[in-house]
Amino acid sequence: MVGSAIWRALESKGYTNLIGRTSTELDLRSQEAVNEYYKKELPEVVIDAAARVGGILANSEYSYNFLMENLQIQNNLIDAAHQHNSKKFIFLGSSCIYPKHAPQPLKEEYLLTGSLESTNEWYAIAKIAGVKACEAIRKQYGKDFVSLMPTNLYGPHDNFDLKTSHVLPAMIRKFNEAKENNHSSVVLWGSGTPMREFLYVDDLADAVVFALENQLKHNLYNVGTGKDITIRELAETIQEIVGHKGSIEWDASKPDGTPRKLLDISRLNQEGWKAKIKLENGIKETYKWFLKNEKKFKEMKIDNS
Ligand SMILES: NC(=O)c1ccc[n+]([C@@H]2O[C@H](COP(=O)([O-])OP(=O)(O)OC[C@H]3O[C@@H](n4cnc5c(N)ncnc54)[C@H](OP(=O)(O)O)[C@@H]3O)[C@@H](O)[C@H]2O)c1
Repeated sequence: MVGSAIWRALESKGYTNLIGRTSTELDLRSQEAVNEYYKKELPEVVIDAAARVGGILANSEYSYNFLMENLQIQNNLIDAAHQHNSKKFIFLGSSCIYPKHAPQPLKEEYLLTGSLESTNEWYAIAKIAGVKACEAIRKQYGKDFVSLMPTNLYGPHDNFDLKTSHVLPAMIRKFNEAKENNHSSVVLWGSGTPMREFLYVDDLADAVVFALENQLKHNLYNVGTGKDITIRELAETIQEIVGHKGSIEWDASKPDGTPRKLLDISRLNQEGWKAKIKLENGIKETYKWFLKNEKKFKEMKIDNS
């Protein structure tokens, strides 16, 4: 999702000399393959949007893979960029790097001030190592390596598989299937009261281009909208956009997760970047993309549990 959005943003800004590979063409876990690739291409700028990603279930079932593959991917990319003198490196992490009980909104300086959320600590520890590697190269060699930590993202190419998807695409799919099958009610997990922040992926891509075109002062920046909404409000917004008529039932026996998770975005704002896309508009665009690609998702079995 993120890599293709950045590619679209770069093309629309007139960048032409773009190079990229899928995981089957270049397995970033292989240091040898990555080194060969850098030797041949000598990239001036590297944007690392590759990672092994997934939810709580995947993190707990594949803890070793989440830790090790992410370390391998980012270490290979970062060190080869250093060895082959890439001028700029942009590392993408996630807000799960911050301590579980850090005050809200989350500021960059809260990194490593407390223990992590245990369900995704494998992933978070790898991402923290990536942030620190970029910081160390910056400090020791004065190179322009920077880390961006986005909040929850959504948009075209999101994951709509209900077993592994995040809340926003899962709701789009559930409301759409309820509408198509004339189901009057939709059951959603939890109480609906937690608050979450959502950033449209094209806004993140715009932030990446901003980081590419400007020399930023710090090594680490949060990227978000600075605004959060309750899961209940999100559900009602999506229900209206999808056009489902009926009730929403909250299954309070299912976990809510942390009550609030909001990023402090003042550091990137002070550099001159702000998110532009309103949540309603982003959801409308995501729903349009979902409808265009719906057949693919219908082949995946819906899991209402
Ligand atoms: N989605 C979110 O809500 C969110 C929020 C905050 C931060 N982020 C960050 O954004 C980044 C991208 O996430 P995403 O949502 O775009 O995930 P995604 O859609 O699953 O994309 C991950 C990409 O990584 C590539 N990849 C994985 N293993 C690889 C390997 N061994 N070799 C080469 N490529 C490999 C995949 O390539 P193939 O498709 O070819 O397999 C895929 O293109 C991650 O660093 C994530 O932490 C995402």
